[in-house]
Amino acid sequence: MIITIDGPSGTGKSTVAKGVAKKLGFTFFDTGAMYRSLAWLVLKEKIDPQNQSQVEELVSRFQFEIRSSAHGERHYFVCGTDVTHDIRTQAISMAASQIAIYPLIREEMVKIQRRFGHSVDAVFEGRDMGTVVFPDADLKIFLTAKAEVRAQRRYRELSHKFPDHALSFEAVLKEIQERDETDSTRSISPLKKAANALVIDTSDLTAQQVIDKIVRIKPKRRYPKMKLSYKWVYWLARLFFKCFFRLKVYGLEHFRPGAAVVAANHTSFFDPPVLSISCPEEVHFLARGSLFEAPLLGRLIQGLNAHPVSRGVSDAAIFRDMIALLQQGKKLLLFPEGKRSATGELLPLERGLAFLVHKAECCVIPAYIQGAYQAWPRGRKFPKLFGKITVVFGSAIEWENGPDKKAMQARITDLTQEAIRNLKEWLESGARGSPP
Ligand code: DC
Repeated sequence: MIITIDGPSGTGKSTVAKGVAKKLGFTFFDTGAMYRSLAWLVLKEKIDPQNQSQVEELVSRFQFEIRSSAHGERHYFVCGTDVTHDIRTQAISMAASQIAIYPLIREEMVKIQRRFGHSVDAVFEGRDMGTVVFPDADLKIFLTAKAEVRAQRRYRELSHKFPDHALSFEAVLKEIQERDETDSTRSISPLKKAANALVIDTSDLTAQQVIDKIVRIKPKRRYPKMKLSYKWVYWLARLFFKCFFRLKVYGLEHFRPGAAVVAANHTSFFDPPVLSISCPEEVHFLARGSLFEAPLLGRLIQGLNAHPVSRGVSDAAIFRDMIALLQQGKKLLLFPEGKRSATGELLPLERGLAFLVHKAECCVIPAYIQGAYQAWPRGRKFPKLFGKITVVFGSAIEWENGPDKKAMQARITDLTQEAIRNLKEWLESGARGSPP
């Protein structure tokens, strides 16, 4: 889900966007920081921001990265240098506004921003987020405030950040008015409210009041539509598991559009169908060919997008099928322990999960299934009726590209193992608050 927050500087966009993202568990993107980062490179290379061709030439050398510190703070890097602090000066503000008028620069920035927005739940803050970058955003907000109020806020912020700089309120007000003029009169992507954006005047509101207002109107999540045949089996199976096993599901907020491997513990034949119907959208999984011959279970998994794996088929062919599904943007269920646990306890994860995630460059949604082992343990021909099954989904774990692919694969295996263990603990200690 994408929420866009646009508006002129000093309306409290950054504070509000950060607060909304934190409250909803979304990622926050400050797109002004990207223009500022390029402006930093322009000034570092001693290029005049007014010199369009030189600025445009520089963009091919602009390597922009966002890294999170150990405390979860975001740091901006340009060609390897941390510029987080340096991009907040007045000189950079002016230069960013000047270079933001060049079409080629905007084109590049829009590309980077859309790439960051792919398959994430995020709050994007900027000037053209709702109009140009994400015209289909789920919720669009446009913040306004009187110029004097904005200048006052900015003056306070700058005096706090740079106590040694001589600064006057009048200069800040003048700079805000000049930037408003440049940002709203440029011919390409001017600062403008999207037709379907909600306007909030923040002049007389605190940041917290604005955050609460936005969080209250956050639209309901829209999941992709299920095909009719899937929907039938899905709802019938849900009814069955609700009636006989009091199925309860937590953590649906961790689902997001696009490809993902939903990775869960495995103790029972019930796991694949129970996990499928606990997901809010269509998912796929691979199952042994012989399972399709079982009387009721066979029909059930067939209707739930199970793909048969024939006896004797190589692992390489199975992986190829799974990667193809993920590359089509589908969600794939996987039980990375590799086999059903005989005792119900978690087993170490196999490497296949990391290999898949690496090849498809998608995320992992960890899940823990509780109660399926008691309902249908290994060695029993038929399940026991009237048990209790609970499924909990955790925060998505991102695949990260790094120079050492083996280390990155080991990292995602460890993080998934830990996440499943944490979900188990969360359930066992009373399922309070949101799942981790
Ligand atoms: O939000 P900010 O003050 O950090 O933005 C710095 C400059 O970047 C601003 O003057 C205009 C430009 N900008 C833009 O043109 N489009 C965006 N999406 C974000 C910022």
